[in-house]
Amino acid sequence: MHNLKTEGLPVHVAIIMDGNGRWAKLQGLPRAQGHAIGIDSVREIVTATRDLNIPYLTLYAFSKENWSRPKEEVKILLKLLGYYLEMELPLMMEKGIRFNLLGEISDFPKRLQTQLLDVMDRTGKNRDLLLNIALSYSGRREILHVVSAMIEDAKQGLIKKIDERTFSKYLYTKNMPDPDLLIRTSGEMRLSNFLLWQMAYTEIYVTHTLWPDFRKDQYMEALTEFSKRERRFGGIKEN
Ligand code: FPP
Repeated sequence: MHNLKTEGLPVHVAIIMDGNGRWAKLQGLPRAQGHAIGIDSVREIVTATRDLNIPYLTLYAFSKENWSRPKEEVKILLKLLGYYLEMELPLMMEKGIRFNLLGEISDFPKRLQTQLLDVMDRTGKNRDLLLNIALSYSGRREILHVVSAMIEDAKQGLIKKIDERTFSKYLYTKNMPDPDLLIRTSGEMRLSNFLLWQMAYTEIYVTHTLWPDFRKDQYMEALTEFSKRERRFGGIKEN
């Protein structure tokens, strides 16, 4: 079937999981059902990533802007998040998956904060896959946080040089490689405020498939396409 060589695989995959609402509408179901089935896609993609030995996966689950969705929908998304954390913890432990949050944890209800911290703590020593889930995340805010923290440290004489390396150390993604591949489902051609600093040289793959339908086969197609891309990082073609 799919015959991808490890050397053609990305080290870090980022995904904008889009289209749950449209998927539900097409099936004549409430939007919440789209999100619920979207969790099955999350499980399948996380497992496939781990099985392919790709060490970093970052999923955009909830943006800072998503708080402005109708109250009921926000409530359902938070409930699903709590459910996901509870249900997936055994799989994370079994598969060596470390869970990490990118975003502003203080925006969440106290109980969910405790649960998020607990899962990060329990999975903290797992080393096979680092699963970042972006929650209440905004790329511009992240950059502003970096700037404020750097100013504070600079005042105390802790910063010698302002360069890309130093800056990267203040991001949520410190000590991680930048994403090699960004996958966006449901056809939208936007970055939507996701990992703005980190994705300077990321290859972008957009598919019309809606997130609840994005499963292992669709993922393999994206990875195969990525393996054919020639990356230049602003340089010229090498022979
Ligand atoms: C985009 O679909 C999806 C989201 C805003 C939420 C993503 C959430 C999940 C996949 C489930 C929860 C995930 C975890 C990890 C617990 P949309 O609602 O914007 O769809 P639309 O653009 O078709 O309306």
